[in-house]
Amino acid sequence: MTAAMQVLVVDDELAMRESIAAWLRQDGYQVAKAAGGAEALQLMAQEVFDLALVDIKMPGMDGLELLRRIKSEHPDTLVIIITAYGSIESSVEAMKAGASDYLLKPFDPEQLMLLLQKMSGQRALLRENLALRQRLADGECPGFGDIVGRSPAMLAVFGRIEEVAETEAPVLITGETGTGKELVARAIHSRGPRAFGPFVAINCGAQAEGLLESELFGHERGAFTGAVKARRGRLEMADGGALFLDEVGEISAKMQVALLRVLEDKQFQRVGGSQNLSSDFRLICATHRDLSQLISQGRFRQDFYYRINVLAIHIPPLRERLEDIIPLSEHFLDKFARETGKPRAHLEDKACQALCSYPWPGNVRELRNVIERAVLLAPGDKIERRQLTFLSPQAAEEASPLTLAEMELNHIRRVLQAQDWNVSQAASVLGIDRGTLSRKMKKAGLRAP
Ligand SMILES: Nc1ncnc2c1ncn2[C@@H]1O[C@H](COP(=O)(O)OP(=O)(O)OP(=O)(O)O)[C@@H](O)[C@H]1O
Ligand SMILES: [Mg+2]
Repeated sequence: MTAAMQVLVVDDELAMRESIAAWLRQDGYQVAKAAGGAEALQLMAQEVFDLALVDIKMPGMDGLELLRRIKSEHPDTLVIIITAYGSIESSVEAMKAGASDYLLKPFDPEQLMLLLQKMSGQRALLRENLALRQRLADGECPGFGDIVGRSPAMLAVFGRIEEVAETEAPVLITGETGTGKELVARAIHSRGPRAFGPFVAINCGAQAEGLLESELFGHERGAFTGAVKARRGRLEMADGGALFLDEVGEISAKMQVALLRVLEDKQFQRVGGSQNLSSDFRLICATHRDLSQLISQGRFRQDFYYRINVLAIHIPPLRERLEDIIPLSEHFLDKFARETGKPRAHLEDKACQALCSYPWPGNVRELRNVIERAVLLAPGDKIERRQLTFLSPQAAEEASPLTLAEMELNHIRRVLQAQDWNVSQAASVLGIDRGTLSRKMKKAGLRAP
């Protein structure tokens, strides 16, 4: 950050307001204070603030209403909501209304500073992407075509996609599993000058080395046992379009050398062939691995890395872009409703809370699966907390504990699934009689799918 961030602290409690302001000033932020919503809006009409820290419980205009006013009148000001522990519902409400994050009271200066540092990073991204943001703000679905995201980090990714799409240089997309790397690769292709050419994808992690070689380069008839016909490889197929090497970190050293040669000479041969072939493709690679670490361990070639990493796009994990969780969930709910023809399901507040507080090790793919399963499990069109089954039940449990009744029901469901929904067998595993289990199932609306 160059200039100091301008922060507005809005809290009706004098002591709270003063101590937050003092902490912020100490860390070099420019601070103004307001005792309520009306005063805050007045100040914002005179001065531009990068960020507002807003207490949710205030007499008169409360924090949520102020948040909505700020988002409509000053959409470029980031808002952090301060809520008391135990009223997490309101923080979910706030995230839905466009808050960038929330702080639970009581918090210490260090927590506040960490959050502010994250925000100044986001702020810098926002500045870069103001024009794009304006355009997105007009759309109904917060996102970029079929890529949903309204966090500053994703807006930066959208901006980057537009930039790199216009060029021909190789792009390397990095990000944890399930963050949307393939989606981004396709978006780059479909926005570029080769959009009408093919997009040829190959997962380099999924094949043995020999197979990968003939998949990529193709082979001549009789090149190896089983090669009864000549075949074109992916390199040839990508001519005029894009070649997407997914999981590029898994490619063996030998194949890296072979590909490096193709990229440098623009020529190659099929396996078992001698004719020089050429293909004109744009290269897009993706990996969930840290390639520089692999290089330092001697497991990835530096020269190959320089070739594929001319332009880079990093997609941050979902846990670092809280604002995207609810819009993504809504997107998947729309999608499944369209696909199944069932009425569009809605998330209950406790379900939203659980989604927003879970750490998402499997990122967007896991979120999609969680929503898909919940839609199947929900008896009506309401999705409750207990219908959400996470990859890491322990992390979900820590983030948002279940009630005893919810835990019981989850356990019953797991046992029923394990017993193929045979009620008698499940009852015997659970150590209760069949009638009791049937009653519990009926009460909870549990039925075999
Ligand atoms: N921002 C997003 N908006 C909408 N859908 C998304 C988004 N990000 C990911 N998805 C969806 O999540 C799933 C996983 O995305 P994708 O396959 O692109 O991830 P990936 O990073 O390539 O994962 P992996 O590393 O496991 O291959 C897909 O169904 C994709 O459509
Ligand atoms: Mg992928």
